[in-house]
Amino acid sequence: MSSIILSTKCITKAYQMEGSRLEVLKGVDLSINQGDAICIMGVSGAGKSTLLHVLGTLDMPSLGKIYYKGEDLTRKTDDQLAEFRNKKMGFVFQFHHLLPELNALENVSLPARVGGRSKVEAEQKAAALLDLLGLKKRAHHYPSELSGGERQRVAIARALVNDPEILFADEPSGNLDSENGRVIQDLFFQLQKDLGLTLIVVTHDQDFAARFPKLFKLKNGVFID
Ligand SMILES: Nc1ncnc2c1ncn2[C@@H]1O[C@H](COP(=O)(O)OP(=O)(O)OP(=O)(O)O)[C@@H](O)[C@H]1O
Ligand SMILES: [Mg+2]
Repeated sequence: MSSIILSTKCITKAYQMEGSRLEVLKGVDLSINQGDAICIMGVSGAGKSTLLHVLGTLDMPSLGKIYYKGEDLTRKTDDQLAEFRNKKMGFVFQFHHLLPELNALENVSLPARVGGRSKVEAEQKAAALLDLLGLKKRAHHYPSELSGGERQRVAIARALVNDPEILFADEPSGNLDSENGRVIQDLFFQLQKDLGLTLIVVTHDQDFAARFPKLFKLKNGVFID
């Protein structure tokens, strides 16, 4: 039997701008099972990144609830959420956001160090992930010494270093050529299968989207069929 890992109840998100209110999400209900791979699509400005941030607790909804295994995340403090994210969630964005002054191994290790692991332990885990993602020989390269596809694989390794349950990705292949994009896309499904991850991915890429068993389209602040 499948169990629900993340669900939302009537999520709204509005931004207050000078004199006007911009309502981006207008009541999003979503239920995601453990091990699911779901894709979120919609035109530019539809609110996909906003929703991903809210689902990942990087931003709070204006109204509505987010539940992780039945636990109401909107009741947690910022510190509790930061710890929760560090342990349970991994994030990959369109741009890698690697720290330029750290090499690949150090970048990947960082969330593990933040999570309280020793340097040796964090680096062992980071090295194993870099190896898994085909970057064994790039561990001591700085981001400026890596290709775009390699940087994105380092960013994926970093997202996985604390063995998250949910991997969020916002246009993870949007910044890559089709060949490297395909490598990254394949990797997501391989990781879902091998690590039992739950995938929540935003993409504009129709071919990538077609590979997901579940597809949600965001329009005018709600999901449409
Ligand atoms: N911090 C903010 N303050 C005010 N408005 C915002 C803020 N962040 C996003 N918006 C607005 O909310 C809307 C949705 O933005 P969002 O980034 O979620 O779109 P998106 O679907 O991810 O688009 P894209 O495909 O271009 O990445 C946009 O109209 C944007 O201008
Ligand atoms: Mg976006």
